[in-house]
Amino acid sequence: MVIRSLKNDEQPPWDLLLLADPSEELVSAYLNDSFCYVADLDNSVVGIIVLFPKSEDIIEVMNIAVSEYIQGKGIGSKLIKHGIEAAKEKGFKTVEIGTGNSSISQLALYQKAGFRIVGIDQDFFVRHYPEPIYEHGIQCRDMIRLSMQI
Ligand code: COA
Repeated sequence: MVIRSLKNDEQPPWDLLLLADPSEELVSAYLNDSFCYVADLDNSVVGIIVLFPKSEDIIEVMNIAVSEYIQGKGIGSKLIKHGIEAAKEKGFKTVEIGTGNSSISQLALYQKAGFRIVGIDQDFFVRHYPEPIYEHGIQCRDMIRLSMQI
């Protein structure tokens, strides 16, 4: 598997982007101003991480996704590590990420990668998404904010 930058003239893998964030409108709002890295396996894109610079020092992982058939095999962890290294090289000092209160495996992944919980944006998903979202029988209401100094 190879992780590389998404080329300027390359069609973004929308199936993956929408797996992590069902709102095409929200994804479109940050995609063009972000750094995008994709994981290639056997000549097809199986993963993506999107990092959006929020300020001179802070960059946020806005989207991370791995093709469903190949999840749980370490590609998500490798994409996070790659994103952190790329952010370091570009001179950012902090990486942020947000996920739903019901996203149990994502919370595990991010904390294993070294992120710490720094806040909760209450009712974020109720305010921004028209339909209620459920995972593991839990309504996704609040955004858990995590951060890492790099
Ligand atoms: N308890 C403890 N650890 C757990 C866990 C749980 N319930 N669920 C997952 N993990 C751990 C795994 O053990 C692994 O840790 P390890 O590397 O120490 O073994 C880590 O989390 C992630 O595993 P990995 O195989 O690298 O993840 P992945 O390739 O499946 O990618 C996602 C993770 C989230 C990108 C992928 O599942 C995905 O695309 N999900 C849909 C899109 C999405 O939800 N994106 C995030 C939006 S916030």
